[in-house]
Amino acid sequence: MYVCMCHAVTEAQVKQKIDEGATTPRQIARGCKAGTDCGSCVRRIQALLGEHGARPCPTARLAQKLGLAEPSAPQAA
Ligand code: FES
Repeated sequence: MYVCMCHAVTEAQVKQKIDEGATTPRQIARGCKAGTDCGSCVRRIQALLGEHGARPCPTARLAQKLGLAEPSAPQAA
C-alpha cells in the first residue's frame, strides 16, 4: 500500500527506514522524499513511526502527557 502518492513510497519502504533507525518524518524523507511534496502523508508516516516504536505522533504524546484515554476505534452502526 502506498503511503506517499507524490513520491510512490510504500508502507513497506517506510517500515524498512524505521528498521534502519529512522525516528522522525524528516529521516524517513531522506532518500525516498516521502512527505516532502504536498505533505498529506506526513500524519500517516508519524503514525507508522509510533506503531513501530520509533516515535509516537505528537497528538499521542500530548494525550499521554495529559493522562487522556486513547481514542477508541469507531463503532460499527
Ligand atoms: S503524498 Fe506524500 S508528499 Fe504528497
